[in-house]
Amino acid sequence: MMDSSPHDKNSREESGGGQKTRKKQKKSKEDAWRPDEPKDPFAMLNALPEEKQQEIQRALHLFSLGKGLPKTMEEASRQPHPFWDTQPVPRLVDGNPTTHGPIEVDKPVVREEPYSLPPGFTWAPLDLGDPVVLRELCTFLNEHYREEDDNTARFDYSPEYLLWALCPPGWLPQWHCGVRVNTNQKLVGFIAALPANIRIYDTEKKMVRVNFLCVHKKLRSKRMAPVLIREVTRRVNLRGVYQAVFTANGVLTRPVATCRYWHRPLNIRKLIDVNFPLSTLTGNMTLQRALKLNRLPEAPKTAGLRAMTRDDVARVCALLQGYLEKFHLTPILSEEEVEHWLLPRESVIDTYLVESSGGVLTDLVSFYTVESTVMNHPLHAGLKAAHSFCSVTTSTPLTDLMEDALVLAKAKGFDVFTVLDLMENTSFLEKLRFGIGEKSVHYYLYNWRCPSMSMDTVGLVLP
Ligand SMILES: CC(C)(COP(=O)(O)OP(=O)(O)OC[C@H]1O[C@@H](n2cnc3c(N)ncnc32)[C@H](O)[C@@H]1OP(=O)(O)O)[C@@H](O)C(=O)NCCC(=O)NCCS
Repeated sequence: MMDSSPHDKNSREESGGGQKTRKKQKKSKEDAWRPDEPKDPFAMLNALPEEKQQEIQRALHLFSLGKGLPKTMEEASRQPHPFWDTQPVPRLVDGNPTTHGPIEVDKPVVREEPYSLPPGFTWAPLDLGDPVVLRELCTFLNEHYREEDDNTARFDYSPEYLLWALCPPGWLPQWHCGVRVNTNQKLVGFIAALPANIRIYDTEKKMVRVNFLCVHKKLRSKRMAPVLIREVTRRVNLRGVYQAVFTANGVLTRPVATCRYWHRPLNIRKLIDVNFPLSTLTGNMTLQRALKLNRLPEAPKTAGLRAMTRDDVARVCALLQGYLEKFHLTPILSEEEVEHWLLPRESVIDTYLVESSGGVLTDLVSFYTVESTVMNHPLHAGLKAAHSFCSVTTSTPLTDLMEDALVLAKAKGFDVFTVLDLMENTSFLEKLRFGIGEKSVHYYLYNWRCPSMSMDTVGLVLP
């Protein structure tokens, strides 16, 4: 951190009456690790030379990033939704549904030709089996798959991660829907639909998970997202599928459920260095105290804990389906899908099982890897987050299993462990020193109406 911000400088000049320098207030030893207060962006901008300010204004205009999605239902209901109001989704104004079933009962007449794009753009199916295309999608998402862009961090998806997240059994190339610029073939838009069998309350449905909706930063707020959503819906409808599940950080229409991110620091010094928002490190906490409170055992404690192997697939499938029955929104996974989503892949997905001395699989814990690049930082180039994917407990207490997962993740070099407060996760959050995050995840169903559900009945994580 810089010792004095332009804001400090301004206030110095205002209050100091010509006094050019004043001795910097020295931080006490206890506070030396603590990041400075966030700087006032307007004061920082005002302190720059006029020419620089104009350059920034031009860049902001060029990027026109919009103001983001509404964060609450109340905020969303005050805004018009010209796109989502035309779609078969439960509306905010209609209240919580009391019935279960499709919103459009009749099968739609599906147009044969793709939706029109503005002149200069074309649709491009992305064949992720082609390493060049896969690398191109990685670069595009790493540069643009961020809602807010303060130039401090960006995702660092690897080709292996995208193959895992986008190519489960039954994936179709035409459901990886890209938009390119005609003149230079540059990729500027993307949306993916993945085949999935989902149970919502008592109904099992063949549907798609829609994910990775992304528009180039310079083309935001130009209504490209609705065209991408319409087009992928048309392509999915052409295959006789009429329902979808998707998530977003903001409120678009009436969500079926809302969950919150919680974060558990593993590498405290680094998280502080990069200003990672950690609610458990505020107040009077000193670094020493934070390190002590967040200390983890040297090794996992649960007897019989081991990494999953291919031989476990059938038994994991059975364990999972039995356990997921208690939730209202869950995947129904075939053995092939269990192998795809859960079998460990280096730097992508880790899954550990507990096998009793009698050879029975009793518990499962898994997490996937989300890496980010930390930009413009003198010490740190990247941040590694473990995201809880799925946990099953029939014998080991969940808190013990998750503590083991924290130990394993720390040993693998992860900096933070992130979970959603769904399934039974609230039972361990405070005990294991997770702090509430800033973001929510809203779950939406397309063309399906049902009563909304509490987060502890959601049994589905979309990576
Ligand atoms: C999400 C993103 C594609 C939206 O594009 P945009 O340029 O901001 O929005 P557009 O002008 O094209 O379209 C606005 C419409 O899309 C909807 N929309 C915006 N984000 C959406 C999302 N994540 N999912 C579904 N619909 C979304 C808006 O609600 C709005 O519809 P409405 O007027 O009926 O409310 C773009 O912000 C982006 O690429 N963000 C970074 C990646 C990201 O956050 N993806 C979403 C992951 S959950």
